[in-house]
Amino acid sequence: MPAILEARDLVKRYRLGAGDVEALRGVSLSVERGEFVAFMGPSGSGKSTLLHLLGGLDRPTSGEVILDGAAISSLSDDAATRLRREQTGFVFQFFNLVPLLSVRENVALPFMIAGQDPNRGEAAERIGDAIAAVDLAGKERNRPDQLSAGEQQRVAIARALVHRPALVLADEPTGNLDFTTGTDVLESLWRSCTQRGQTIVLVTHDAKAAAYADRVFFLRDGLVRDEIVLGRRDEHGAAPLIARLAQLGL
Ligand SMILES: Nc1ncnc2c1ncn2[C@@H]1O[C@H](COP(=O)(O)OP(=O)(O)OP(=O)(O)O)[C@@H](O)[C@H]1O
Ligand SMILES: [Mg+2]
Repeated sequence: MPAILEARDLVKRYRLGAGDVEALRGVSLSVERGEFVAFMGPSGSGKSTLLHLLGGLDRPTSGEVILDGAAISSLSDDAATRLRREQTGFVFQFFNLVPLLSVRENVALPFMIAGQDPNRGEAAERIGDAIAAVDLAGKERNRPDQLSAGEQQRVAIARALVHRPALVLADEPTGNLDFTTGTDVLESLWRSCTQRGQTIVLVTHDAKAAAYADRVFFLRDGLVRDEIVLGRRDEHGAAPLIARLAQLGL
């Protein structure tokens, strides 16, 4: 299986007044098509930075991201934007819904940005399916401020999945949710992986969430400190992962 996503020696330095912050100090990894991987690690270890680079939302100081065979840095800005829009869906740590748009309009955004009519044909069907998949049918007309936090996060998930991108990147999608709603979100991601063959990259603090992954990368101080292989399973109890983390002293 060719990798859908590859990081080669990624370094990211942020310039901050007097000194620089080195958020990533040489991260290399590769993710296969259809895999579910998770990034764990302490606050400030570089997880969000890495996810942004992998999704083409930001550029590394040095190193290379290869998405679906293409080195992102070798593409023009336009081509990189197109690749990102067509191939990736992003769930942000803090929802990022458009406040004035309804649930349906928020989920329709990827089609609208691509210049497609969201009210016709396959686009309309997929928007309906995505909303149903996160259990929000009946709330299509609500605005984000008329939804609970968990419902808002499910809208963000539907928006990330609606155009069926090959790669879905999610930053703490369950961070602000109660256990039941968080489990629903994880189940949506799991189904998109197992039923549609989408590749999932999940950032999380929570071993219960990371336990859905085939592999868990543990970051510390801008480096991949450990990789834990869990393998594909239908049962997602966190006990085996927690045991491995404890064994490694993490
Ligand atoms: N735009 C920025 N400018 C300067 N420093 C930044 C910027 N973004 C992140 N950093 C720094 O880079 C390091 C890694 O940040 P990052 O957000 O990737 O961590 P994280 O692992 O996602 O943490 P958390 O679990 O708290 O979300 C931190 O030291 C952070 O302060
Ligand atoms: Mg983060």
